[in-house]
Amino acid sequence: MNLLFLAVEDPSLSGDAREMLLHADQELRRVGQMAKRSLGFFRETSTMVAVDIPAIIREVLQIFTRRLEVSGITLKDEMDDLPSLIGFPGELRQLFANLIGNAVDAMAKSGGELRLRATSKLHPRRGESGIVLLISDTGTGIAPEIRARIFEPFFTTKNDVGTGLGLYVSQNIVEKHLGMIRVRSVAGGTRHGTVFKIFLPYPMDGKRH
Ligand SMILES: Nc1ncnc2c1ncn2[C@@H]1O[C@H](COP(=O)(O)OP(=O)(O)O)[C@@H](O)[C@H]1O
Ligand SMILES: [Mg+2]
Repeated sequence: MNLLFLAVEDPSLSGDAREMLLHADQELRRVGQMAKRSLGFFRETSTMVAVDIPAIIREVLQIFTRRLEVSGITLKDEMDDLPSLIGFPGELRQLFANLIGNAVDAMAKSGGELRLRATSKLHPRRGESGIVLLISDTGTGIAPEIRARIFEPFFTTKNDVGTGLGLYVSQNIVEKHLGMIRVRSVAGGTRHGTVFKIFLPYPMDGKRH
């Protein structure tokens, strides 16, 4: 942005070129805002620390209290008390804010139920124990024809308000914590809704930093 600012001031520029640079500056500002909104808020440096997952999810929920209320969304908190896992709390907070935000968006018009379940489990195939988290909504659901694209950066169906970065960033955060994220969804009909399932492993000897 600084370079564009300087370039626009160059007296040898043609009017057209100046116009293009001003346009580029505008777009760059827009992208900058988007990145800041999606990443900046939760950004923190630091190393991995012990994280109480249900506790940080409940913290994130507080941001949404008002939206749940005005949209007529009821909350079912079925999260067990769980051992802490080792992770980046700011990023995990961002992960949950993205998923809860999407669930709320999907129920904004109709209301519905947001259900959060968290349990400790041994992952059957991976032979690791970890936290299984289910974030379920009774919202619009995700149409089968777009299901494959929702984790792509900038893919959004929320024209003006969406960044399309939420799930892309979420998947990256889960992978960084050596976990998995899966989605099941039903669109249309009477029993519509979406479930995101996340597995986050507990640290195992010799495998982690
Ligand atoms: N819980 C959900 N219910 C319905 N659609 C969803 C849900 N979560 C994600 N989606 C779909 O996936 C798209 C991408 O989500 P995301 O990456 O968070 O970007 P954004 O929320 O900015 O659109 C959304 O635009 C929406 O179409
Ligand atoms: Mg989103």
